[in-house]
Amino acid sequence: MPLVTSKEMFEKAYNGGYAVGAFNVNNMEIVQAITEACREEKAPVILQVSKGARAYANHTYLVKLVEAAVQECPEIPIVLHLDHGPDFETCKACIDGGFTSVMIDGSSKPFEENIELTRRVVEYAHAHGVVVEGELGTLAGIEDEVAVEEGHASYTRPEEVEEFVRRTGVDSLAIAIGTSHGAYKFKPGTNPQLRFDILEEISRRLPGFPIVLHGSSSVPQEYVEMINAHGGAMPGAIGVPEDQLRQAAGLAVCKINIDSDLRLAMTGTIRKFYDEHPDKFDPREYLKPARANIKELVRHKLKNVLGCAGKA
Ligand code: G3H
Ligand code: 13P
Ligand code: ZN
Repeated sequence: MPLVTSKEMFEKAYNGGYAVGAFNVNNMEIVQAITEACREEKAPVILQVSKGARAYANHTYLVKLVEAAVQECPEIPIVLHLDHGPDFETCKACIDGGFTSVMIDGSSKPFEENIELTRRVVEYAHAHGVVVEGELGTLAGIEDEVAVEEGHASYTRPEEVEEFVRRTGVDSLAIAIGTSHGAYKFKPGTNPQLRFDILEEISRRLPGFPIVLHGSSSVPQEYVEMINAHGGAMPGAIGVPEDQLRQAAGLAVCKINIDSDLRLAMTGTIRKFYDEHPDKFDPREYLKPARANIKELVRHKLKNVLGCAGKA
């Protein structure tokens, strides 16, 4: 089947009490690892591309890689989504350039400005058959193009969500309930706890409406230890507990964003390979196990965290 929007995917996920995985893609091995895992597990999937990914790999290369995956995996629905669209122009370029879903991230702007920008993107996207994710509330965390210091993070205010959805016409809403981007989500020694009370209040105000969770990597300690054992230095890297993500997937959360875990699996695997084989220099020899480990990690998420295995 051709690329799809997330509309039907989210309806099924909402009613079925599971979430669809939204995995960030930056190169061929990552696209292959995710889509092979989803094909084998018969899971729907969202492949998402950030501004940084477009700058790194080039828009056309990424679209063509995803088109190749669609051709190789005709049995599963695949969405091509813009992650953290920073402005109208980037969203438009992706809508015009083959994406079926875009996020406009106006979360750092004042409420009225966020509404105005999001509404403009929705108008253009809907006229072209593309769906839109908006965001209210600010996640902490620092990545390539998405950087918010801890002091500037803020939970979503439930009293704002109805007006935002009504005035913008968005198809899904990303919220901030305690997750954050990157590999350092909670202070070591503390008890990570998402704000389910905020999620429940939001879903009470928006019945049947799909909610999105960003910053949902669990930072597998297996890979943190592998990185640290082979020349890396990531002390205190901690992610969102998997049981809390499972709980969110059973509620109104229909899309769960995962990027850092893929990066950790790739980096850990390659670091270990370099350490153990200082004589090797063929990139295929280390990209192959890296791809295999990302695939295994994605399979685990589909089956044990998102609950979307078998739902394609
Ligand atoms: O939320 C951000 C994503 O993980 C993308 O990160 O901007 O480094 O590509 P990036
Ligand atoms: P992580 O850094 O937790 O993987 O979050 C990714 C994300 O939210 C992409 O938008
Ligand atoms: Zn994000």
